Amino acid sequence: MSDKLIIFDTTLRDGEQSPGASMNKDEKLRIARQLERLKVDVIEAGFAASSNGDFEAVQLIANAIKDSTICSLSRANDRDISRAAEALKGAANARIHTFIATSALHMEKKLRMTPDQVFEQAKQAVRFARNLVGDVEFSPEDGYRSDVDFLCRVLESVIDEGATTINVPDTVGYAIPELYGNFIKTLRERIPNSDKAIWSVHCHNDLGMAVANSLAGVKIGGARQVECTINGLGERAGNCSLEEIVMAVKTRRDYFDLDLGIDTKHILAASRMVSQTTGFVVQPNKAVVGANAFAHASGIHQDGVLKARDTYEIMRAEDVGWSANKIVLGKLSGRNAFKQRLLELGVQMESEAEINAAFAKFKELADRKSEIFDEDILALVSEESVSNEKDQFGFVSLSQHSETGERPHASIVFTFGGKEVKGSSDGNGPVDASLKAIEAHVKSGAEMVLYSVNAISGSTESQGEVTVRLQNSGRVVNGVGSDPDIVVASAKAYLSALNKLHSKADRVAAQG
Ligand code: KIV
Ligand code: ZN
Repeated sequence: MSDKLIIFDTTLRDGEQSPGASMNKDEKLRIARQLERLKVDVIEAGFAASSNGDFEAVQLIANAIKDSTICSLSRANDRDISRAAEALKGAANARIHTFIATSALHMEKKLRMTPDQVFEQAKQAVRFARNLVGDVEFSPEDGYRSDVDFLCRVLESVIDEGATTINVPDTVGYAIPELYGNFIKTLRERIPNSDKAIWSVHCHNDLGMAVANSLAGVKIGGARQVECTINGLGERAGNCSLEEIVMAVKTRRDYFDLDLGIDTKHILAASRMVSQTTGFVVQPNKAVVGANAFAHASGIHQDGVLKARDTYEIMRAEDVGWSANKIVLGKLSGRNAFKQRLLELGVQMESEAEINAAFAKFKELADRKSEIFDEDILALVSEESVSNEKDQFGFVSLSQHSETGERPHASIVFTFGGKEVKGSSDGNGPVDASLKAIEAHVKSGAEMVLYSVNAISGSTESQGEVTVRLQNSGRVVNGVGSDPDIVVASAKAYLSALNKLHSKADRVAAQG
């Protein structure tokens, strides 16, 4: 009988630590629901003690998700652990994931603690957590760069205290597959009680080897849990990517001989949802979920695929959620067809009122655009989920004029605290003029650190999806807006980012 490989998704915790990827709690819940649909085994929903916003997000997800285990990160101290346990109270299956750094460098320079103090604190934290929940994961942060003798001592003692999962992070993405695999193997062989815990890998992608390292940890080291994120989202170069690890293990079952609980046909919807929510665009040649992942451009390949699919395809596009028929709905499509398509795309709306609002937007879009693609629907519902009546700012209308040789000018009407206001400005281009017209009223003082436009379905007839990243007083937020008119999409994205800046969400870095 094959072993099961546990998929632990940390998009909402480690992924969110990526600068600019912060999400509000409704966005997190929406992604958590998609992860549940994917049948992810464990969802790390956040770091409850880091802020009230994170606490509420973990709590919301713990109360709503029933099929996946919900986990909160916590530093190795009683306050963090109690906060995590409190946020997880409503979970059907709860896990506390506690961590402390064990490398000489981190202990000395960051924690300013001696190895003996770290040893005691790790033990004490796991003991405390085990009194609150039955499922406790322990991570020695920067584990891969830690002294192996010290690590064995710490891990043996936390297993004795009842840690059920031992995760070995390559926090800075320094590992090499064979070395990392052997490192896990050595730990498991040397620690006398290692069979009492499930071993887990957690790899960062600084050298582009997070997936390879994780697979080596599984194959050579015998790990049976992989920590990963959708689209490989995460700090710096990101984390191990869920879609790549899952499809590698599934496609090469002959080699790994492991079972997975994942329902892979929801992978693409999850990837798009995370990309649209965070504004982190998926590169076209990204494995599994990139726009070109299953596109055959060269004549030889096309010919081969038409004659026998497996000449050039090792996976089936539909197995990860790509549909052959991309034009899905049009102007005459009714509410039921729209609702059905949402379900097929894995989008679950909370209430009939939400569906009605999204359907009204769909009709509006279908009046202006003859063919509506899956990407349009996903953009529309993600916009729906980021805008609501409680918002401080909302888009109403815009007109702009640009002509060769003249300075562009824009006038915009938007809501500001429930009232309609009108602003106008000139600018270097129509987008610049429109955003300046908004800023002239709002005076947020925020600095724009990213502006990007993406044609949602590839042609000039498609909607433009704009991402605006603003930074103010140390906070970085993303706003996303879509519209067939990219100037309007830009204004919507800017207002959406202002709404996020306006909502009070103080976060502290997890590894601070
Ligand atoms: O990369 C890391 O070390 C982490 C730990 C907190 C598990 O994310
Ligand atoms: Zn990490």
